[in-house]
Amino acid sequence: MVSKVAAEHKTYEEAMNGINKTLETMGLDYLDMMIIHSPQPWVKVNQSEDRYVEGNRAAWKALEDAYKAGKLKAIGISNFQIGDIESLLETAEIKPMVNQILLHISNTPLELVEYCQKNGIAVEAYSPIAHGEILNQPQIKEMADKYGVSVPQLCIRYTLQLGAISLPKTGNPAHMKTNADVDFEISAEDMEVLKHFKKIESYGANSGFPVYGGRL
Ligand SMILES: NC(=O)c1ccc[n+]([C@@H]2O[C@H](COP(=O)([O-])OP(=O)(O)OC[C@H]3O[C@@H](n4cnc5c(N)ncnc54)[C@H](OP(=O)(O)O)[C@@H]3O)[C@@H](O)[C@H]2O)c1
Repeated sequence: MVSKVAAEHKTYEEAMNGINKTLETMGLDYLDMMIIHSPQPWVKVNQSEDRYVEGNRAAWKALEDAYKAGKLKAIGISNFQIGDIESLLETAEIKPMVNQILLHISNTPLELVEYCQKNGIAVEAYSPIAHGEILNQPQIKEMADKYGVSVPQLCIRYTLQLGAISLPKTGNPAHMKTNADVDFEISAEDMEVLKHFKKIESYGANSGFPVYGGRL
């Protein structure tokens, strides 16, 4: 079971209360993992230059203490950029184990992925199918056809070959089954094409969400 410290919780007390409340609501003694949802509160994403360095350090301290107390088996961050991680590492006692980031064909923050991997922080790819929007890209469909797979399979395999943990979402059991069947290899040449694939123009009806707004 995984949960998040709310993006708005930027003091030790707020974060610790959130952790305890989550455990209480779920009726659990521990969670497998908790991560700070965003370096900035959602209302500030795309609106402010403030990266909440002290607030994130305080929230991280709460996660570290909960980890040491056995309430959390792993602790991490989400949507953190390189500068956010560097600021956190300056005072952290425990290194984040995971950074969960927006990572899919047409949105590959290579520098961030490599930075996390070099620093022993596992990268989790959220929205690996671009929240469904990548299904509308004819060139990606063409490449998927070449490998005899579906576009979601190509997308998921891509994130795995980047060394990430892929977090596809589906409400369809048939999709869940085929999404797990990704035992094929994308060539090095095609990986390069996919890494630099043009940005999709929009996430459709979901473009208004901060995570799809361009700065996370
Ligand atoms: N940390 C963060 O800030 C953050 C932000 C956003 C999301 N996330 C997490 O990332 C996970 C994935 O997010 P997402 O919803 O954006 O995911 P996604 O996996 O990129 O896209 C999901 C969409 O793809 C469709 N899909 C999946 N498999 C398919 C298939 N085989 N064929 C056709 N369509 C398929 C789904 O429809 P069907 O249901 O019809 O299959 C759904 O519309 C979520 O669990 C979420 O919690 C984290």
